[in-house]
Amino acid sequence: MHRAMFFAIGLLLAISFCDAEKFPKETVTAPAVEKVPGKGLFTFETLQLTDDVISNVGKQLPATIPISFGGARAKTAHACKTYPGDASWPSESDWQAFNSLLGGALIKTVPEASLCYPEWGGNYTASSCTALTGAWNNSTLRIENPTSIRSILFQGMTCMPPDYTARFLGNNVTCTVGGFPTYSVNVTTVAQIQLAVNLARELGLRLVIKNTGHDFGAKSTGMGGLNVWTHHLQDAEFYNEYKSEGYTGPAFKLAAGVQVVDANRLAREHNVTLVGGEGKTVGFIGGYIQGGGHSPLTSLYGMAADHVLSVQLVTADGRFITANSTTNADLFWALRGGGGGTFGIVTSMVVKAFPQLKVTTMTYNLTTGGNFTKAKFWEMQRAYVDNFEKYADLGYYSYYRIRHTPAGEITHDMTSMVAPNTTEAAFRATMAPLFARWAELGVPFDPVIRESDNYADAWAAAFPQEAWTWTMRQASRFVPREVLAAPESRTKMFNSIRGVFDEGANMILFNMRNPLGSDEIDNAVNPAWRRMLMFAIMFVTWNVTDPAPYVTQLSRNLTYEWNPRWKALTPGSGTYMSESDYIEPEWQRSFHGDKYERLLAVKRKWDPEAVFYATNAVGSEDWVLGDSSTLLLGHLPSQNSRLCRRAA
Ligand SMILES: Cc1cc2nc3c(=O)[nH]c(=O)nc-3n(C[C@H](O)[C@H](O)[C@H](O)COP(=O)(O)OP(=O)(O)OC[C@H]3O[C@@H](n4cnc5c(N)ncnc54)[C@H](O)[C@@H]3O)c2cc1C
Ligand SMILES: *[C@@H]1O[C@H](CO)[C@@H](O)[C@H](O)[C@H]1NC(C)=O
Ligand SMILES: *[C@@H]1O[C@H](CO)[C@@H](O)[C@H](O)[C@H]1NC(C)=O
Ligand SMILES: *[C@@H]1O[C@H](CO)[C@@H](O)[C@H](O)[C@H]1NC(C)=O
Ligand SMILES: *[C@@H]1O[C@H](CO)[C@@H](O)[C@H](O)[C@H]1NC(C)=O
Ligand SMILES: *[C@@H]1O[C@H](CO)[C@@H](O)[C@H](O)[C@H]1NC(C)=O
Ligand SMILES: *[C@@H]1O[C@H](CO)[C@@H](O)[C@H](O)[C@H]1NC(C)=O
Ligand SMILES: *[C@@H]1O[C@H](CO)[C@@H](O)[C@H](O)[C@H]1NC(C)=O
Ligand SMILES: *[C@@H]1O[C@H](CO)[C@@H](O)[C@H](O)[C@H]1NC(C)=O
Ligand SMILES: *[C@@H]1O[C@H](CO)[C@@H](O)[C@H](O)[C@H]1NC(C)=O
Ligand SMILES: *[C@@H]1O[C@H](CO)[C@@H](O)[C@H](O)[C@H]1NC(C)=O
Ligand SMILES: *[C@@H]1O[C@H](CO)[C@@H](O)[C@H](O)[C@H]1NC(C)=O
Ligand SMILES: *[C@@H]1O[C@H](CO)[C@@H](O)[C@H](O)[C@H]1NC(C)=O
Repeated sequence: MHRAMFFAIGLLLAISFCDAEKFPKETVTAPAVEKVPGKGLFTFETLQLTDDVISNVGKQLPATIPISFGGARAKTAHACKTYPGDASWPSESDWQAFNSLLGGALIKTVPEASLCYPEWGGNYTASSCTALTGAWNNSTLRIENPTSIRSILFQGMTCMPPDYTARFLGNNVTCTVGGFPTYSVNVTTVAQIQLAVNLARELGLRLVIKNTGHDFGAKSTGMGGLNVWTHHLQDAEFYNEYKSEGYTGPAFKLAAGVQVVDANRLAREHNVTLVGGEGKTVGFIGGYIQGGGHSPLTSLYGMAADHVLSVQLVTADGRFITANSTTNADLFWALRGGGGGTFGIVTSMVVKAFPQLKVTTMTYNLTTGGNFTKAKFWEMQRAYVDNFEKYADLGYYSYYRIRHTPAGEITHDMTSMVAPNTTEAAFRATMAPLFARWAELGVPFDPVIRESDNYADAWAAAFPQEAWTWTMRQASRFVPREVLAAPESRTKMFNSIRGVFDEGANMILFNMRNPLGSDEIDNAVNPAWRRMLMFAIMFVTWNVTDPAPYVTQLSRNLTYEWNPRWKALTPGSGTYMSESDYIEPEWQRSFHGDKYERLLAVKRKWDPEAVFYATNAVGSEDWVLGDSSTLLLGHLPSQNSRLCRRAA
């Protein structure tokens, strides 16, 4: 205990408080609207692990808690990541000492639903379990837990509220840590991130990064992992005039834990607009922007990743660095579209801000029935898709769903169509021919159309908070402009979507374009994003009590039967890594197109020991979730498995 306290004090004394001067003054000329000491680096970023700290404190640590930076000595290539029970897995007292180094930020995983299981200790009450069960799909609450994730199916569903325990996975009503990481570090300083990265690298631990846990591919979990939980890295700074190569104008620096809802609120406060996603609680700086990041403003401004000016991150060697267009430019390129959890742990980014604009949005719901037949519904949909080029080229975006009702009808909601820089009158004028056609078809159409004088208000009203649904699987494809432009291929594609729907899938569809060509922006965003006009997601859902063979068939249909049809109609296109099939075949090509080789080279240069791993992330083909006994439904790799190097 004494020793542990000494380490903590030693670390605090030795921490380097980098001053404001360290950040290049010439990049920030005008005073920030909110003056924060340490202009440039956030305060939490000035709290770093330095060589001095390591030589003062590190040498007094047992060899079983290595915290030195990487790069200096030859490393062992671990055949598998290190797991509890392995010789080099730290002992309880080592973890305690490490926790002291972290200032008490280490959290041993207690799965959130364990409070439904009396054997997990004193927190069980029937009423707290009932409350958790009822709010299990509420992302606002789940995000506050260090290890809860949305796509819990791939974790193995080893600790669910009892009502949701998936019988089809053969689960008994029990709670185990399973595919959740073993420990989390609730990071609030760069030093803590560096300590976690160094320990994980030196011991070969499976490093996990969780921000919000929204990832559809469960990339923010992993059995036996040491989880860097970034949610509490909360800070933001506004620059009236940020200067960088090729850009002078307003910008925001946002810390890793900032969510879209906060970013939009801040933007509104400063009378600017940020290119962020539609999902309210999704993180801004984590998987979203690093994977590309589409937005209701994409048809006007492109991807979120197209507007990053500078990145601060901890790399696999444990160093804290800047990546921008002139420093570590290869990493800067890869971090803008190449994917989260792959190249380093980002602590903040500087992103461009845009002027405020008038925004008009439209929302409506429809369900077939009576004289509004399914045939009429599909006619209505076809008339809409016939206008995709026109709408997207005006800068409009739409996000809508087509789903089966339990009664066998079709329900369709335009979650929102967003027309930026457009008044309600101009929007209505543009839409008038389509509305007239729909009236002719007798569509029971009663839209809510609203004009706002800024994007943040329009967005807040137009997009409800989505539920975290876990009994689902999805697959997706970009439909390029050329496919929708030619009537014959458009018809084939449209009929294929309808066909897949009729066979049992549901749809989430987007109409948008990317106005920025690859000649204008050179980053790692999937080149297929630059040519698309529709982003089409198919998904299947089931009940926890449904029999395994049924769920298996649904899941296999997605990957092996239905999505291949869309691929055949969209040759050379791809899909969005962050909203794709968990077992996307040939994911390298689908997610990255001809940029994959360059991304892999950046990955191997910056992370030669594969400290960072996420399923279907760049470089992950070197690894396999090797425990075939934990395959889900016989075909889905589980994160409740050891991660080992693929045999050569
Ligand atoms: C309800 C909902 C709405 C969505 N809406 C949109 C949308 O409008 N547009 C869009 O493009 N996408 C959207 N997405 C997809 C979203 O972009 C991805 O789920 C994304 O991975 C979420 O990132 P996160 O950081 O919030 O989540 P997490 O699951 O915590 O992290 C995702 C991945 O990024 C890594 N990561 C997180 N933080 C960091 C960091 N600081 N440094 C390095 N790696 C990190 C994690 O390890 C993981 O691999 C939506 C998803 C949901 C569930
Ligand atoms: C019980 O709750 C306390 C306080 O919230 C928490 O510290 C502890 O980890 C919980 N224990 C379990 C087993 O959930
Ligand atoms: C989700 O939880 C938050 C925080 O308690 C609450 O404010 C919100 O109303 C909940 N959402 C729903 C849909 O219940
Ligand atoms: C569930 O319980 C049954 C009977 O007790 C047992 O045979 C089976 O192995 C258990 N399954 C799992 C996944 O633990
Ligand atoms: C994580 O750290 C933050 C900031 O110190 C704190 O408010 C929060 O309670 C911590 N969460 C957990 C689960 O320890
Ligand atoms: C990139 O960062 C470096 C180091 O902080 C700085 O010297 C340089 O001016 C920055 N370049 C741009 C284009 O901002
Ligand atoms: C934003 O605009 C409003 C109205 O024009 C103005 O009152 C406010 O001062 C502006 N805020 C900032 C931070 O510029
Ligand atoms: C559409 O349905 C959703 C969910 O039931 C509801 O919240 C929303 O208000 C409806 N929108 C309109 C325009 O009727
Ligand atoms: C908004 O529309 C006006 C004309 O109506 C145009 O001049 C301006 O460039 C548009 N802004 C953007 C960001 O496209
Ligand atoms: C269905 O009937 C209503 C009421 O008679 C009518 O207004 C509507 O246009 C009809 N719709 C279709 C699709 O025929
Ligand atoms: C969660 O699901 C329930 C219905 O099962 C719904 O009433 C609630 O609004 C959902 N929560 C969120 C956050 O959407
Ligand atoms: C789940 O079960 C309920 C009631 O048994 C049923 O109404 C619903 O359609 C089922 N959902 C799916 C996706 O099968
Ligand atoms: C899978 O797809 C086939 C058609 O390709 C269909 O007949 C079958 O019902 C589907 N299975 C499920 C469970 O949806």
